[in-house]
Amino acid sequence: MSSSLQYAARSRIHYYMSPPGSTPQPVCLITGASAGIGAALAYEFASHGHTLVLTARREPELNTLADAIAARGHARPRVIAADLGQPEGVANLAAALQHAGLDVSILVNNAGFGLLGDVAQLDPAKQLAIVDLNNRALTDLTLRFIPGITRHKGGILNVASIAGFMPGPGMAVYHASKVYVVSLTEALHEELKAEGVKVCALCPGPVPTEFNNRAGMPDDYFPQALSRSAGRVAREGYEGFMAGHRIVVPGGANRVATLLPRLLPRGLVLGFLGWRWWRARRRG
Ligand SMILES: NC(=O)c1ccc[n+]([C@@H]2O[C@H](COP(=O)([O-])OP(=O)(O)OC[C@H]3O[C@@H](n4cnc5c(N)ncnc54)[C@H](OP(=O)(O)O)[C@@H]3O)[C@@H](O)[C@H]2O)c1
Repeated sequence: MSSSLQYAARSRIHYYMSPPGSTPQPVCLITGASAGIGAALAYEFASHGHTLVLTARREPELNTLADAIAARGHARPRVIAADLGQPEGVANLAAALQHAGLDVSILVNNAGFGLLGDVAQLDPAKQLAIVDLNNRALTDLTLRFIPGITRHKGGILNVASIAGFMPGPGMAVYHASKVYVVSLTEALHEELKAEGVKVCALCPGPVPTEFNNRAGMPDDYFPQALSRSAGRVAREGYEGFMAGHRIVVPGGANRVATLLPRLLPRGLVLGFLGWRWWRARRRG
């Protein structure tokens, strides 16, 4: 048995077998598609005619979304459930794609989460899980699929955050993980542009999704003026990505919020963000 089939036997992944000798089909892979921004990106890419593969841990939610996309008259996306936070999650997913005869031409690295709290108080294992998903899995997927993406002159859309432009007392590991995503994306944008590959970081401000609940964050933690719907963020992200932009920050107020930390002295920015976290903690 091949090693990829052994992965399948050990995991929850269902294999679609491609006919022997058939040419791999180019697809757009969207991670974290079972909810929130990822689901909205799936609608957006499907409505522009992309052939999709959706992945996340919750298979029933992915299938419901795939059915809803098909009901709108688009091709039904393939669904491959995978836990990308686990050491073999990305390898399992890549093996399932290969066996199905699918070649990733567009990679949307959207799966991610954060936690609100002081680094010293939060569970260390949960904080490391942020790095595993937001950084290790994103990088692993990117490195594995770059050859196919380059061959197809496709692209990589990484969902970062406005957090990627500043340190974040109260969400320190999450902010650091998104700083990494912005930096990696900008460098890849530069490296791959001569190959005709689009690489873009979508950097939303607050979006009402399941994110806050998982982060342990009250819904009014951020000012309402910064908030954007997942559908709007996905639309602006798709348009900016297709236009070849390096960074997309949806919303004028969010663009200011990402510009100020680059213009003002670092100590001033950090002092303000630290004061904000101190005030939030006092409110409880
Ligand atoms: N919402 C915001 O305010 C906001 C702002 C800026 C940036 N972002 C970023 O936007 C991205 C999407 O967040 P969202 O707001 O849409 O959050 P969300 O509603 O919580 O969705 C997160 C998605 O990631 C998937 N996921 C979580 N852990 C996973 C794992 N171990 N393996 C595979 N998939 C996993 C979830 O699916 P399963 O649970 O089914 O696995 C879900 O589909 C994240 O990268 C986030 O950092 C969010």
